[in-house]
Amino acid sequence: MLLDNHGRKINYLRLAVTDRCNLRCFYCMPEEGLQWLSRKELMTYEEMLQMCSLLVKMGIEKIRITGGEPFVRKDIMQFLTALSELEGLNELTITTNGVLTAPHVQDLKKIGVKSVNLSLDTLDAGRFFNITRRDEFLDVMRTLDELLKYGIEVKINAVVMDGKNTEDIIPLVELTKDLPVSVRFIEEMPFNGDGHVYGGLQWDYVRILEEISGRYPGIKKLVDPQYSTSYNYQVPGHKGSVGIIAAYSRTFCGTCNRVRITPTGELKTCLYDDGVMNIKDLLRQGINEDALNKALLSAFGKRAKDGWAAERSRVEHTGVHESMATIGG
Ligand code: GTP
Ligand code: 5AD
Ligand code: SF4
Repeated sequence: MLLDNHGRKINYLRLAVTDRCNLRCFYCMPEEGLQWLSRKELMTYEEMLQMCSLLVKMGIEKIRITGGEPFVRKDIMQFLTALSELEGLNELTITTNGVLTAPHVQDLKKIGVKSVNLSLDTLDAGRFFNITRRDEFLDVMRTLDELLKYGIEVKINAVVMDGKNTEDIIPLVELTKDLPVSVRFIEEMPFNGDGHVYGGLQWDYVRILEEISGRYPGIKKLVDPQYSTSYNYQVPGHKGSVGIIAAYSRTFCGTCNRVRITPTGELKTCLYDDGVMNIKDLLRQGINEDALNKALLSAFGKRAKDGWAAERSRVEHTGVHESMATIGG
């Protein structure tokens, strides 16, 4: 079992396979996109597999593939298939924006993907365009239909943004009436790629909960799964559930079981740190498995206690400003 220096179990890897995305969500990146990474800056699939295989031997049990948007990377299904065959990996999951995902759902089911997190901030096509700067709402809804059709568990991620989609909170909760999905409302974080100074969080988890319980006074607290990022609730009689993720308030650091690897191979032992070592560089320098194992253990032994300490540990003390697309969320 992998433990960090605070006694927390590490068993969950979030691997971002690309920084590219086919949407331009304004809370994630500027309208003109980012300076995309070149092919040689990205980890190859072979490097990622080698690294995942070692991490699974070390104690990682769950891998979530993120991006950018994972499905814009060429041959992603072949990579997912190879990953799904890693012995010792109990859970392979994906976070996707759903634009290109629908045609792959049947294959995801075949390789054993049991749950997919779908980013969807609104149920209104106009607001979808406003937020994502792309007109792809119907394709995302098609993905939702396919996932449900194949019995894949769906969590819908909705970032709550003042003046952009707060009128969607109640309609999104209503979606759980007939659909067995978990709709999770996320506090907006400052990872938007343009380095602007964050003007304070308007919708924190307390305000989001007040908004929901104002409309559904009978809402019930559910028991949260171990390591859950969300506080979970259910409106009595609804098939699905509702969650709130205090991503900015960082209330769940005490049970944090996650490490992240960015598309360039940078290891982040907290979402809010600026990277603790580069695995791709070490692999390209020909590091052997034993030495990589040691380097990883050393990094896991120096984790920040929480997201606030991680933010303070950043080399440039200018706060977080990189795009979520270069981290993977
Ligand atoms: P499950 O594996 O289904 O529990 O999902 P998840 O919440 O780990 O992953 P997902 O990719 O759906 O992320 C949902 C939101 O939670 C995103 O905005 C993430 O950035 C945020 N989030 C995930 N992990 C962490 C974390 O370790 N710290 C913080 N602060 N936010 C996180
Ligand atoms: N704040 C909060 N959540 C964000 N995500 C992307 N950018 C941000 C941000 N600035 C979410 C996406 C995706 C998840 C991995 O992270 O909606 O579902
Ligand atoms: Fe883990 Fe950092 Fe997120 Fe806290 S903020 S839960 S320590 S990744």
